[in-house]
Amino acid sequence: MKTAVIYKSFLGSTGKYAEWLSEEINADVFRFGQIKKDQFDNYDIVIISSGTYIGWMPLKGYLKKVWQYIKDKNVVVVAVGAASEDDEWSIKSYERIPIDIRSKIKYFKIPGKLGKQTAKDIKKENLEPIFKYVRSL
Ligand SMILES: Cc1cc2nc3c(=O)[nH]c(=O)nc-3n(C[C@H](O)[C@H](O)[C@H](O)COP(=O)(O)O)c2cc1C
Repeated sequence: MKTAVIYKSFLGSTGKYAEWLSEEINADVFRFGQIKKDQFDNYDIVIISSGTYIGWMPLKGYLKKVWQYIKDKNVVVVAVGAASEDDEWSIKSYERIPIDIRSKIKYFKIPGKLGKQTAKDIKKENLEPIFKYVRSL
């Protein structure tokens, strides 16, 4: 199935993950705002990804903006951040995504970095569950 990865990255890790996703599942990569509304028609799977910054995930606003064009597709959302998936703050960030959207997406939270010491946390293997999920579609 044809896949698009659309991302926003301030510090580079989400961009690195987008590159690995495109290699592994043969996806086209765009930054937020780079893909035009008519182009969504070309894809069966849309992966939307961004970092998390004090609970704010740019992917939330972007999802709301493009939802009308992607709501009938397989939408996979990948939040990148230093807090683990079950952390209270990660749950709060996730719950900021409107419920009607949340109920129709497949959501993942994967490790980000908090400086040079934690750059090693950005590993391709963190994407394994996403590779597996996308291949199952
Ligand atoms: C100012 C700031 C705030 C952050 N807040 C959060 C947060 O609330 N939750 C979280 O999981 N990670 C948080 N992080 C970690 C970032 O999400 C992490 O650095 C991630 O790799 C950023 O993605 P990017 O490299 O694509 O910009 C924060 C980082 C910075 C610099």
